[in-house]
Parts: sequence; C-alpha cells; structure tokens
Amino acid sequence: MNVLITGASGKMGSLVKGLLEKDMFFNEVYGFDRVENKEENIFSNLSHIPKVNVIIDFSTPLLLDELIKYSSKNHIPLVIATTGYTEIQKKLIEETSQTIPIFYSANYSYGVAIITEVLKQVSAKLERDFDIEIVEKHHHHKLDAPSGTSLHLAHAINSSLQSKKEIVNGHQGQRKPQELAIHAVRGGSIVGEHQVIFAGLDEVIEITHSAQSKSIFAHGAMKAAKFIINQKKGFYTMNDLIKEDI
Ligand SMILES: NC(=O)c1ccc[n+]([C@@H]2O[C@H](COP(=O)([O-])OP(=O)(O)OC[C@H]3O[C@@H](n4cnc5c(N)ncnc54)[C@H](OP(=O)(O)O)[C@@H]3O)[C@@H](O)[C@H]2O)c1
Repeated sequence: MNVLITGASGKMGSLVKGLLEKDMFFNEVYGFDRVENKEENIFSNLSHIPKVNVIIDFSTPLLLDELIKYSSKNHIPLVIATTGYTEIQKKLIEETSQTIPIFYSANYSYGVAIITEVLKQVSAKLERDFDIEIVEKHHHHKLDAPSGTSLHLAHAINSSLQSKKEIVNGHQGQRKPQELAIHAVRGGSIVGEHQVIFAGLDEVIEITHSAQSKSIFAHGAMKAAKFIINQKKGFYTMNDLIKEDI
C-alpha cells in the first residue's frame, strides 16, 4: 500500500511520515507540502505524485479544496486531521464522503475517543443539576481557538442532553444557565489538554484528557488510514475505529 501525507514537512506531517516509513503495511510513503524536498520524497505539485491508496492530511484548511478535488478525481480514501474548518468546509467534507471514504476527526487520540463516549453518558445524568464548562490548553503556536477537539466534545455533550446548550467562547459578564462555555488557554509548548467540568451544588466532577506527546495523534491517524483503505464510500470517525477495536 502506498500513502501520501499532505502537510508532510510540518510538525505533525513529519511525525506521521516517520512512523509510516517504519510500518511494514506501507510500501511507498510520499509527502506533499509547499516546498519540494526530493530527498524526503516530498512533492510540491499533487499531479507529480505516483498513485497512492490513501491520503493522510495534517496541513491547513486552505488546502481543502485542492485536496478534495484530487482525492475525488483519483478515488483515494482520505484521512483528514487538519482542524479549524468553517461550517461550509465541514459540509463540503461530508458531501464528498458520498463519493469516496473520508475519515475525519479533530483529535486522533484513542483516549479522547473513549472520553467522548463517557461524556455522553455522564452529561445525560448530570444535565439537570450541574453546569458544564470546558477548559482547553494548547501551545502558543496553535492557529485555531477554541480547539477542534473542545468543539467536538461540546457537540458530543450536547447530543446527549434533552435541553441543548448554547456553545460559547468564554463568558462576558454573568454566565447564562443555558451556556456551555469553552475557555481557551494558549501558552508555551503545551501539547493539548481538555478538561470538562461539571459543577454542581457543593460538588464538582472533572474529566480531563492530557496529551503528553503529539505521537498519539500520529498513531491514531495511521490506524485510521489502515482502517479506511478497506471501507466503502462514507463518513467515518473515531467512533467507528473504537468499535472495530472492541
Ligand atoms: N486531528 C488531530 O488529532 C490533530 C493533532 C495535531 C494537529 N492537528 C492539526 O493538524 C494541522 C497541522 O498541524 P501542525 O502542527 O503539523 O502544523 P504545521 O507544523 O504548521 O504544519 C502544516 C504544514 O502544512 C504546510 N502547508 C500550509 N499550506 C499549504 C498548502 N497550501 N499546500 C501544501 N502544504 C501546505 C505547511 O507549510 P508552511 O510551513 O510552509 O506553511 C506546513 O509544513 C493543524 O490544523 C492542527 O490543528 C490535528
């Protein structure tokens, strides 16, 4: 199997590329980025890349149109890990999954996939008596805020509630009861932390996921690539991957 990584010279792209190159499942590992690097098998023009069986994308939302066009035209399954998409772009991704298999997750960590399921159960039980808030922390280079993962967790929580929350970025003045605020902290080299706080009367429950290395995302994206190669057209998420593992 041959694989292409888009954003291959970036922090995540180079990590994933190194991992795939050591994995026996993949024969050829190609990269695509803004600047060509022949020694590293990294191209700057998609049409020059030999045929691949799957693409893993860790780049930028700006590349989405070109990526979708290329993978649809060549019928290549796509694993999307880039975050910061607009609602219109998310819709485009979902629409394209009617023609090719697309795996999409704002967070490829197995732990986050598991706490997403736990949060759905816990939130439904605590909905009436507890305020729910999210605090997320990332390094100061991160381009998007709130993080894609915090939005994913907020939507997962909302999906289990009878009375849906209004997802807001922090608070201005007094907190409104129907709000679920995401508080984004940016600093230093923090890999990524997501803390969901359920605050009730005289008791607080906190569920926290802390990423200690970026390699968890690289491993998750590689697993997703191996999984999606054999799937039919459709939209796949970490939920499908954890079902497969259980
Ligand atoms: N889903 C997850 O689990 C997960 C985990 C971690 C990160 N992410 C996301 O993955 C993305 C990449 O993160 P990163 O930390 O690796 O960022 P990064 O270091 O900035 O890497 C992005 C790479 O994409 C390249 N690029 C930008 N525009 C391009 C274009 N038009 N065509 C081709 N290549 C282009 C960049 O080149 P230049 O440097 O020349 O611009 C860079 O090499 C972000 O959206 C991040 O939030 C997702």
